[in-house]
Amino acid sequence: KSFQLNRVSPSKGNRKILTIVMDGVGYTNPGANITSEMSNEKGILPSESFLTGNAVNAAYTPNLQRLVSCSLFRTLKAHGTAVGLPSDDDMGNSEVGHNALGAGRIFAQGAKLVNAALESGNLFKGDAWQKVVNREDLKNKTATLHLCGLLSDGNVHSHIDHLFALIKGAKKEGVKKIRLHMLLDGRDVGPLTAINYIEKLENFLKEENSPSFDCKIASSGGRTFVTMDRYESDWSIVERGYQVHILGEGRVFSSLLEAVEKLREEKNYYDQDLPPIVIHENGKPLGTVEDGDSFIFFNFRGDRAIEISRALTEQNFTAFPRKRFPKIFYAGMMQYDGDLKLPELFLVTPPAIDRTMTELLSKASVKQFACSETQKFGHVTYFWNGNRSGKFNAEFEKYVEIPSDLIPFQERPWMKSAEIADETIKQMYANSFEIGRINFANGDMVGHSGDFAATVLSVAAVDLALGRIMKAAKETNTILIVVADHGNADEMFELDKKTKKVVYDKNGLPKLKTSHTLSPVPFVIYNEEILEHKIQLKDNLPLAGLANVAATILELAGFQVPDFYEPSLIEIKGSKTINKKE
Ligand code: 3PG
Ligand code: CO
Repeated sequence: KSFQLNRVSPSKGNRKILTIVMDGVGYTNPGANITSEMSNEKGILPSESFLTGNAVNAAYTPNLQRLVSCSLFRTLKAHGTAVGLPSDDDMGNSEVGHNALGAGRIFAQGAKLVNAALESGNLFKGDAWQKVVNREDLKNKTATLHLCGLLSDGNVHSHIDHLFALIKGAKKEGVKKIRLHMLLDGRDVGPLTAINYIEKLENFLKEENSPSFDCKIASSGGRTFVTMDRYESDWSIVERGYQVHILGEGRVFSSLLEAVEKLREEKNYYDQDLPPIVIHENGKPLGTVEDGDSFIFFNFRGDRAIEISRALTEQNFTAFPRKRFPKIFYAGMMQYDGDLKLPELFLVTPPAIDRTMTELLSKASVKQFACSETQKFGHVTYFWNGNRSGKFNAEFEKYVEIPSDLIPFQERPWMKSAEIADETIKQMYANSFEIGRINFANGDMVGHSGDFAATVLSVAAVDLALGRIMKAAKETNTILIVVADHGNADEMFELDKKTKKVVYDKNGLPKLKTSHTLSPVPFVIYNEEILEHKIQLKDNLPLAGLANVAATILELAGFQVPDFYEPSLIEIKGSKTINKKE
């Protein structure tokens, strides 16, 4: 299946193509801008016409405005089946978005593959299940099976139905004792929804438990504070997870429900920020992890599963002192990194994302550039390259990571946008690459905080950086492609599914929304005047999505587009193309 990328037209000196991903900046209802202010007894609120919580429209974005009025502007699908998710009710996310951008195709993604493996029963026949769950020690109760993961139906990292299916499967296998280590979400679902999922789980356990089957929640914590760090941004998050799940160290409660209620009385915690919680019974933690136990991390998405998997399996581990390192049988829902074989055992085979743009371009000796700040660095490298860490050929790939701040991002909504722009502009002037991609984390990372005002500022910060890069593009012979991976900042308040009107809480204030959206994303080609021919957007691809961008980049750069990629979005002006796919 090897493929050699060929140039249709010879390389054009220092001409460059740079793709800018504005993470979490969906594009919807552009007319609904803030017009006036209105006050009610709770204080000043934006006008009714604006009360959709769209921080993208509310932000001052002169550069984005210039871009959306270009002739080469359209929107793209970035959610649901267009990015390989089970249904069009599934919001987009960065993993599937960047996979589609970097690979030029739509792959059935984790959420879908796990559903299929559970439905067919193949998950329970696989090697990992057999080695980790079908074990005598678990059947005669001398060992415990631990299940750890994100407790919600967000379908970005995990799904509660998968957890239920694993518990049922283990019970059927003859396992007697299971302990659950539940990470509370509030980021892929509403910010204060943990109790709903805990109750759902407790009801499920009531049905399943019996004198011969004992399954209980043992530890917990909010996902942003406990266990689910990514890209080695802050190992202390994983350390807290290790201590609470493995060693049973943390604040003690008698049930998870009690813990969440008590903690919320003490402080206005959002679910994702809740501290480590240990459940005790008879004065002892209910489920520490011991030699000989089995442990499954049931998140299917890799970025936030890699560090905890390493902490639980790596012999020579130095990121933090482990105090105790039990010998366990460990499996991930998926293999989170194919190159590192991490973890060795996994329940479901991840999508085989091959022949990504980076791979093809590296083989063709094309210089590439990738840059973002820590929070999204792996998005433009690991996800972009089909969930692969490392490079295909270091000679042609320059990757720059700008360290992210270790603070709640709503406190610094500009994040590292200026530094990313600095670095990118430097590389543009230095002609160090022919094809590049960068990611601005702001709209997404600040969007996840639920802070509307900060998110407005975060989008404005991206706009400022955009403006600088647009200017540099004119001076450095660079064509820009500006796009987003999914929506988030475009919907900061919960909207009623039917009426699309804002949902208010009992105090008359909009209910906040911290998760991604179903919105389309903007797509624009800027500074295409430097091409030797005129181009236009095809008008026969109304359903195009993120997977169509790769072929567009290759075409703009003068390469023959691989016929296994989704079609390019552009054509030479005046010509007609016939598309097989739509
Ligand atoms: C996260 O991991 O922060 C969220 O679950 C998803 O956000 P992302 O897909 O934008 O990274
Ligand atoms: Co996000």
